[in-house]
Amino acid sequence: MSAHSFLHVGGIRDVETFRRHLRDLHISIPCDPELLSGDRSPLAQPLRRGDISLGNRFAIHPMEGWDGSTEGRPTELTFRRWRRFGASGAKLIWGGEAVAVCHEGRANPNQLAIGPHAIADLSRLREALIREHERSVGSIEGLVIGLQLTHSGRYSRPNSHDRPEPRILYHHPILDKRLGITDDYPLLADPEIAQIIEEFHRAARVAHEAGFDFVDIKHCHGYLGHEFLSAHTRAGDYGGSFENRTRFLRMVVEGIRHVAPGLAIAVRLSACDTVPFRPNPKHSLPGKPGRGVPEPFVTLLPYRWGFGVNRDNPIEPDLSEPLQFLSLLSELDINLVNLSAGSPYYNPHLQRPALFPPSDGYLAPEDPLFGVAQQMQVTRTLKQHFPNLIVVGSAYTYLQDFLPHVAQAGDESVSHAQFQSFVTLLFVDRFERQNGFARFDGFSHPPARCSHDRIRSRYSGDGIDSGRARLPPWARQSRQARPVDRIAAGLHHSLARAALPDARRVGRCRVIAAMGWALEHAPNLPCPG
Ligand SMILES: Cc1cc2nc3c(=O)[nH]c(=O)nc-3n(C[C@H](O)[C@H](O)[C@H](O)COP(=O)(O)O)c2cc1C
Repeated sequence: MSAHSFLHVGGIRDVETFRRHLRDLHISIPCDPELLSGDRSPLAQPLRRGDISLGNRFAIHPMEGWDGSTEGRPTELTFRRWRRFGASGAKLIWGGEAVAVCHEGRANPNQLAIGPHAIADLSRLREALIREHERSVGSIEGLVIGLQLTHSGRYSRPNSHDRPEPRILYHHPILDKRLGITDDYPLLADPEIAQIIEEFHRAARVAHEAGFDFVDIKHCHGYLGHEFLSAHTRAGDYGGSFENRTRFLRMVVEGIRHVAPGLAIAVRLSACDTVPFRPNPKHSLPGKPGRGVPEPFVTLLPYRWGFGVNRDNPIEPDLSEPLQFLSLLSELDINLVNLSAGSPYYNPHLQRPALFPPSDGYLAPEDPLFGVAQQMQVTRTLKQHFPNLIVVGSAYTYLQDFLPHVAQAGDESVSHAQFQSFVTLLFVDRFERQNGFARFDGFSHPPARCSHDRIRSRYSGDGIDSGRARLPPWARQSRQARPVDRIAAGLHHSLARAALPDARRVGRCRVIAAMGWALEHAPNLPCPG
């Protein structure tokens, strides 16, 4: 089996072929044949909800570059990325990137962290973004900028790329083994959690003083906030019942309201999950992982180590608790939510549907379009229940050139006024590999060991490769081995046509990963997937 037994979206030349491909796969991702441009595009429409006023439907997902200093301060590479976020024309900047609330909670020694210089540093990052936005777009009206606050929990590596220092809430029967966590490894104690909560309060105050419009209390991708939600087996105040598992969020929010009144609060959530995946051992060779298969879980039923999973069949989502969670957000007056899924550490095909495996991962277990459709379906279902929530979706990079066609779709059955979506863009510095780009592949390898293969596979399946020469032999013959520029250029062009009257706004930037999607008034839309 190889990655290229699936038809690669990057190789599809026109939208009709893409639509046919979706039909052949029996995937009902809506996709418009014609793109509307300028003001006629639903993606160009402003959005107002309460105090939040957004100039268009483009958003930038949080995206860190692992390029901060060891003190957690931004470097020139960080500034450059934020300037590009600003230049994009997107009006919602969701978090910029994950910023650790304390040193121990950093996912790597180059992650930004709240420290003594944070107010000044974050103000400068924000101002650089705003200046670039104004220069590029001409106006900062409708620009909303948040900061993502995180504690990396189980995936903390604050001091060295190759030394995990996990802070865990419970013992996980599969993930503990992967991280070398022994049965007697200590759990975070309740007083330590109380301290982390205070660190979130402090960080939110810093963000407020630095001028951010909102903070995102990160609850996704296997990090601490997300792990609370699945702490079914934990004893005490933070485990077991839904109320206990969301106590962390409630306490963080309560404190922020007190120390930073007026600061809006948002949450990025892994709304569904599945058991950890691994390469199929029967079809793996050294350096050539097999297709992803779930870790054996039959002896673990009912499965109690996930959030948004069916306990009796944990490879299926169960949205009852995620729905409860969104109700809680409403009660807490949180109106901005960014939906993601799973984790890049243990089920990347779900979190970031892709054709190529991450460096330590597995080949796509299914056509990645199924993963895209699944996230769209989850987003749609949750949005149906909470029509007034501003929702941003994730994991649409894989749609590449057809992304705006999908983002726009739905207007066959509803008017543009009803249809409102967010398209999110990620802008990265793919040309400066030696400096910034290599660091994106940091989950399990120190930057020094990053190769172009790993860079490519970190973006696994985006179809975005630096060129054939650097690909491993098994990928070299594949059609995915295309130079990045053609793909990116096509993407710029179609995105620009889709939403922004001035195509240069988007086209000027280098896009390599793309989109999130959200639906307003989703009940009227055709069911994707
Ligand atoms: C280089 C890189 C850095 C990322 N950094 C963050 C981050 O700081 N916070 C976060 O919540 N997600 C982060 N993500 C995940 C993305 O926001 C997004 O969820 C993921 O790429 C899947 O969506 P897509 O298909 O639109 O790219 C990162 C992804 C990439 C590729």
